[in-house]
Amino acid sequence: MNGADSVTAIVSKAMARTPDPRLREVMDALVRHLHAFVREMKITEEEFERALDFLVRLGQASGPEKNEVILLSDLLGLSTLVMMLNNSQGRGETDSALLGPFWRAGSPMCRPGESISRDTKGEPLEVKGRVTGIDGTPVTGAIVDVWQASPVGLYENQDPEQPDRNLRGRFETDGDGRFHFRTVRPAGYPVPVDGPCGEMLRAQDRHPFRPAHIHFMILKEGFRTLITQVFANDDDCIAADVVFGVTPALSGHYERDGKGGWRLEYDFVMQPGTRRIPKPPLP
Ligand code: BEZ
Ligand code: FE
Repeated sequence: MNGADSVTAIVSKAMARTPDPRLREVMDALVRHLHAFVREMKITEEEFERALDFLVRLGQASGPEKNEVILLSDLLGLSTLVMMLNNSQGRGETDSALLGPFWRAGSPMCRPGESISRDTKGEPLEVKGRVTGIDGTPVTGAIVDVWQASPVGLYENQDPEQPDRNLRGRFETDGDGRFHFRTVRPAGYPVPVDGPCGEMLRAQDRHPFRPAHIHFMILKEGFRTLITQVFANDDDCIAADVVFGVTPALSGHYERDGKGGWRLEYDFVMQPGTRRIPKPPLP
C-alpha cells in the first residue's frame, strides 16, 4: 500500500533496475534526500507549486547569453562545493575557483609584459607571478590564460564600448616558470538580477556582488588544469562574495607602485594530472 511513510521505498524499488550503477546510486540518494527534505520542512502544496514555477522560469530565462540554472547553483554555493570537492587535494596546490560564464577560448597570445588592456581607461596594474609544481620545480612553457572585468565591472562581451577581446590574453611561462603582464584594475560586479535568481536574492536580502578578481586558467601537459581567480584584498565585498568563491589564499595583495598604478604578485602551484580544456561558456 502506498502512503507518505512508504512512498520513498516504493520509488527506490521502481528505479532499482537502472542498468548504470552510478546513475542508480545517485538517483536513489537524490530521491531519499529530496523526500527527507519535504518531510522535515512539511512542504505545503502552495510552496511546492511556487518551487516548480521557479524552476520552470529558471529554464525559460536561460539561453546562450545567460544561464539562470548555473547561476542558481552558484548562488546556493553548490558550484563552489562541487569544484572544491573535485579539486582540493591538500598537497599545497593553489585553490581552484569557478570558471564562471565569461571565459572565451582562443584569447590572443601575448608577449611577456604586454598589456591586455586594449583601450587605455583605468588604473594601471602590473601582474607578475611564477608557476611551480607541488615539489617547487618551475612549470616552464605553461599557458597562463587571463580574463577580467573592466574598471566599470563589465567583461568585453557585455560592453559595446570595449574592443573585442579586451582584458583577455594568454602568456607563456619562461624557463623559471614566470609570467608577467600589464592591465588595468578590475572592478567587482553584480551577477544578473533581472531573472528568477535576482528575485531569490531580493527575497533573501542578499547583495548581488562579486569582489574584483582576475581569472586564471593555467595549462600544461602533465599537470591538472588550474582554474582559479585572484581577488583584490582591498575590495569591500572580499568577505561576502555572492557565489562563495573566495578562499583566504586567493586574496591577492594589491600594492601601490609609487607611480599612480598598482602591482600584484601571485604565485601558482599546479598538481600533477591531466591537462583538460573546459567547454567554453561563450563563443
Ligand atoms: C565569474 O567569476 O565571472 C562568475 C562566476 C559565477 C557567477 C557569475 C560570474
Ligand atoms: Fe569573473
